[in-house]
Amino acid sequence: MDGSIPMIIEKYESRNKGNLIQILQEIQRSEGYIPGEALNSISNHLWISRSEIFGVASFYSQFKFNPPGRHSIKICLGTACHVQGGDFLLNALHSEIGIAPNETTEDGRFDLERVACLGCCALAPVVMIDETIYSNVSVIKLKETLAKYE
Ligand code: FES
Repeated sequence: MDGSIPMIIEKYESRNKGNLIQILQEIQRSEGYIPGEALNSISNHLWISRSEIFGVASFYSQFKFNPPGRHSIKICLGTACHVQGGDFLLNALHSEIGIAPNETTEDGRFDLERVACLGCCALAPVVMIDETIYSNVSVIKLKETLAKYE
């Protein structure tokens, strides 16, 4: 853990649980995710358990617990995408890059997140990589698309 996380935490009054969300937000902005060591430091500072912090943080989708990959994959498993085979795509992703949702590949190439709807249900199933939406995705198309990202 570099010095930025302790600096963030120390800015806030200790034992004031009301600071939890703000601390998490600052760490998320600074690091791109909430490292495990940060949970320990927050726990010591605010005198609340790691599991309580995790429970609060995991309620908000803005907080990530894995380091971001160079490319972020969002797979939609909303109703339209689910009906059109979103689960097959999720399985294909798992066998192709070896990660499940909320994980990052060991080489840091991809992180993966499942989402409830990307707002383009007529194009289902939909996968988003970085800022690009891929529509009517098949397993073959998905594998070809992944190969374009280093
Ligand atoms: S359900 Fe997938 S885009 Fe809406």
